[in-house]
Amino acid sequence: MRVVGREIILVRGKDGQMNAMLNVCRHRAMKLLPDGCGNARRFSCSYHAWTYDTDGHLTGVPGEDTFGPVDRDDYSLVRLPCEERAGIIFVGLTAGRPLELDTWLGDALPYLEALELDKCTHFMTKELAGPNWKVTLDGYLEGYHFGALHPNTVALTNHTNRMTHDRFGPHVRNVFALKSLDAMMDKPRDEWDPAAAMGLVYWIFPGMSIAGGWRERTVISIILPGDSWGESMTWQATLLRTPPTTPEEIAEAEKTAEWFFAAFRDEDYTAQTDVQNGLPSLADKHMIIGRNEIAVQHAHESVRRLLAGESVLDPR
Ligand code: FES
Ligand SMILES: [Fe+2]
Repeated sequence: MRVVGREIILVRGKDGQMNAMLNVCRHRAMKLLPDGCGNARRFSCSYHAWTYDTDGHLTGVPGEDTFGPVDRDDYSLVRLPCEERAGIIFVGLTAGRPLELDTWLGDALPYLEALELDKCTHFMTKELAGPNWKVTLDGYLEGYHFGALHPNTVALTNHTNRMTHDRFGPHVRNVFALKSLDAMMDKPRDEWDPAAAMGLVYWIFPGMSIAGGWRERTVISIILPGDSWGESMTWQATLLRTPPTTPEEIAEAEKTAEWFFAAFRDEDYTAQTDVQNGLPSLADKHMIIGRNEIAVQHAHESVRRLLAGESVLDPR
């Protein structure tokens, strides 16, 4: 992955442990592995063929008798902090700085674990270029825009401007009311199926949205700042609880995933790019965020706190 200008390798080793390291050869900083996924026993640099094992240890320096001796430990790949929780791999970009994930995720962790993402099957990942990451993110955090921006997609199944909101430190859970709720309300309580009536979205600060909850399909969007302030890159992964097996099931799952992705691209990301283009004209004014856009408020407040050197974990 490329994350805010850093090239990163994620490896699951033979022991099952995840490791993260910079995808940069320690000889002369060549990008070690090309983009993509796969299996390898070792990594070999295409420039002068230095080799590393999958833990990042330098194992081979061709022509070392002419190059000069190289201390294997001093020139291993740079390891980054990497831990898993709730089926999610977290990586820190600062080598040597502990992640302290249990503190960071706090009360959100049991809810994330309950989603059992580790038991889902990865179906497809797509990339989506967008404007500034905060502008992009704002679109994930409220249901106020469903009716106006998504009349023929999201708003077919979701009520507009109806949601609950819970927060766990900087993290958020928004639950959107689905239209299937209406018919359910007329039924006796023991026939209610809450999972079928709610669109559950967790948002893990600063840029991961987990949409789908207990349902068959979960869409995880990771919004990463780009190389410049006006750009972002979103990795959108579709996970399925039951892997499709027949060609018909696979085609159906592909169609649904593509449809979802296209709605984001053609509606949300198009609107957010227009927001980005509008912002400079209002540079001497301010935006206004409503009470019904509470998660947007919370996100901006958490960013403000971080910029001010305050903790986002403090109770407020
Ligand atoms: S830069 Fe990788 S071997 Fe030279
Ligand atoms: Fe949207």
